[in-house]
Amino acid sequence: MHSPTETAPRGGVGGLLAALEESRDRTLSLVSEVGDEDLDRVHSRLMSPLAWDLGHIAAFEDLWLCRAGGGLELLRPDLARTYDADETPRADRGSLDYLRARDVRDYMAAVRDRSRAILEGFEGDLALVELVIRHEQQHNETMLQTLCIAGLLQRSTARAADPPPGPDMVAVAAGPFEMGAPADGFAYDNERQRQVVELPAFEIDRLPVTVGDWIEFMDAEGADEPLHWNGTAPDPRLPVVHVSWEAADAYARFRGKRLPTEAEWEKAAAWDPATGESYRYPWGEAGPTPALANLDQTGCGPAPAGAYPDAASPCGALGMIGDQWEWTSTEFGPYPGFRAHPYREYSEVFFGKGYRVLRGGSWATRPRVVDNRFRNWDLPQRRQIFAGFRCAA
Ligand SMILES: [Fe+2]
Repeated sequence: MHSPTETAPRGGVGGLLAALEESRDRTLSLVSEVGDEDLDRVHSRLMSPLAWDLGHIAAFEDLWLCRAGGGLELLRPDLARTYDADETPRADRGSLDYLRARDVRDYMAAVRDRSRAILEGFEGDLALVELVIRHEQQHNETMLQTLCIAGLLQRSTARAADPPPGPDMVAVAAGPFEMGAPADGFAYDNERQRQVVELPAFEIDRLPVTVGDWIEFMDAEGADEPLHWNGTAPDPRLPVVHVSWEAADAYARFRGKRLPTEAEWEKAAAWDPATGESYRYPWGEAGPTPALANLDQTGCGPAPAGAYPDAASPCGALGMIGDQWEWTSTEFGPYPGFRAHPYREYSEVFFGKGYRVLRGGSWATRPRVVDNRFRNWDLPQRRQIFAGFRCAA
């Protein structure tokens, strides 16, 4: 286990409590227009019922904040198994005895009351509170995937600026860079330990692959359409999303390129050759703002590729954080010195099972969750997530 000093977030208990409340407002706002029947039912075998997500958010908070952090017994031990994501694959969740829409909000509120009481004068591990906040926020993105698949979300384009002119690909020089999260501040277990990685020189696409690029591939190769097109004609300047790793890999080969490794992706996003340092975001250390990245735009979708020129990474790549997750060629596994924290099921049980790493976050990702080091993962055939990609050579 990491010690609390290694993982403690900034902001203190007051800031964490405010973030918990804001996260809950957001969770409830996502489902405020959704009827109970649509909350309770299974919309896709790949996704949980939305009511399950809501109950699971509260059960996770009860487990990690109230029990592990505050020393309480679980509020509803009878629900522990129902809401254990590892015990219950998504395809089976529709048959579980999860709390339905008419009851689940009361359970969420009851757990939250316990959390507020615990956080008065809290002296436990603040990293557990941060974990609970981010967990709820990550489920917001999962819920948005479900809402999209169910046709319950109005999609729109966030911005319509054209990208500044530039080359198709940008160069990243050979040499070492620091990869992963530093020892201080909150980080997920799979982002540590920070390591020095030596890479040969490579090139990476300046922009993510767009709908227009993808149409050329479809026309030439008969490739699958991304999931959400539904017969409409999307703006060709948008980054393509809902493509599988397998299709992305085929596209890269069609262009005579390849997918970047996750080390290449992180170096292109984070490494500044002028200082030799790796920054937290492509634009530096300061957190995302609406001018820098399209994150957290409920009811929207990605902005056109290259719409945020001020957010260029040191090598000149645009749009690396926000809009669409980006597939990498790397299979999800541990960094050297990995230690599971706070539980094996967060990352470790997924290592070495064919999951591919995605980087960068999507329009549906909350700004608190994602940075240059954040590692997401999914199976290569999946395309329910807001995943696109860019190529390397
Ligand atoms: Fe979860």
